Amino acid sequence: MIGILLAGGHGTRLRPITNSISKQLLPIYDKPMIYYPLSLLMAAKVREFQIITTPLQEALFKDLLRDGSQWGISIQFVTQAEPTGIPEAFLLTRKKIVGKRTILSLGDNLFYGSQMGKKINDNSGTEGSHIYGYQVNDISSFGSMTIQNNKIVNLEEKPKRSDSGYAIPGLYHFDENVTEFCEELKPSARGELEIVDLLRKYQEIGKLDYSILDRGTAWLDTGTHEDMFAASELVRVIQTRQGMLVGSPEEVAYRNGWITPDQLEELAAGMTVSPYYKSILNLLKD
Ligand code: DAU
Repeated sequence: MIGILLAGGHGTRLRPITNSISKQLLPIYDKPMIYYPLSLLMAAKVREFQIITTPLQEALFKDLLRDGSQWGISIQFVTQAEPTGIPEAFLLTRKKIVGKRTILSLGDNLFYGSQMGKKINDNSGTEGSHIYGYQVNDISSFGSMTIQNNKIVNLEEKPKRSDSGYAIPGLYHFDENVTEFCEELKPSARGELEIVDLLRKYQEIGKLDYSILDRGTAWLDTGTHEDMFAASELVRVIQTRQGMLVGSPEEVAYRNGWITPDQLEELAAGMTVSPYYKSILNLLKD
């Protein structure tokens, strides 16, 4: 199983903050945005990652995440020259994912809920593709799916009608045929390869499965100033109340047994003036 994190794009809706830095490196409360999807996939027991960045920002991502060995995982970086569509992730990584299943997460999506890692892991083995549905107030900025008789009957990107079913969060499971399907895709009217067109390919052959994320799960796409602020507030409230971290790769690595207590201690060494690393050291007292 390979985890792919898509962290390219221009972050246009967040200008001027993104004039000189990638959106996915911006903070959501006390940690970089990309920590959240990365640690979620780690919680789903994914250990091999391909991270897609812009050519200009690759060095910054490498500086932050290194090769992943400090967290017991492996990370390779791939660059995308221009944001020409989410399915391009599979074309850019095609040589690395041959014969393997993948989970693609958008680098600006944040999930929080009980047993999320386990749920994702449970769906990793499904044949074809598996996606998630989430009830939202305003579906017009998302991909959407309509369900009838427990089947997906319609898929649409940014629907105009407000009764278009469930939003599709940026977390997708695919089998080893994904690259082949991506090669058949044609750019849409807005000039991008569209994720819903890729999902339609699986739907057409009856291999698109779904599960609905229940109301106990928080899903936020952090692509606007409002969303970023809301996500930071959510993380701040939960962490302050519980005294536990949300979205920490160090914590997940430690709980998964991928790093030892000594290694965990070393990761926080000398940095406990930061409350983040103080919380990391507290894990050793559990
Ligand atoms: O957040 C979930 C939504 O994400 C889905 O419901 C939609 O179906 C999906 O199209 C996507 O919608 P967005 O409008 O949020 O897509 P956006 O173009 O903002 O891209 C999402 C993230 O992926 C963003 O962090 C940038 C990155 N990206 C996007 C494209 C198109 C890339 O790195 N490369 C790309 O080529």
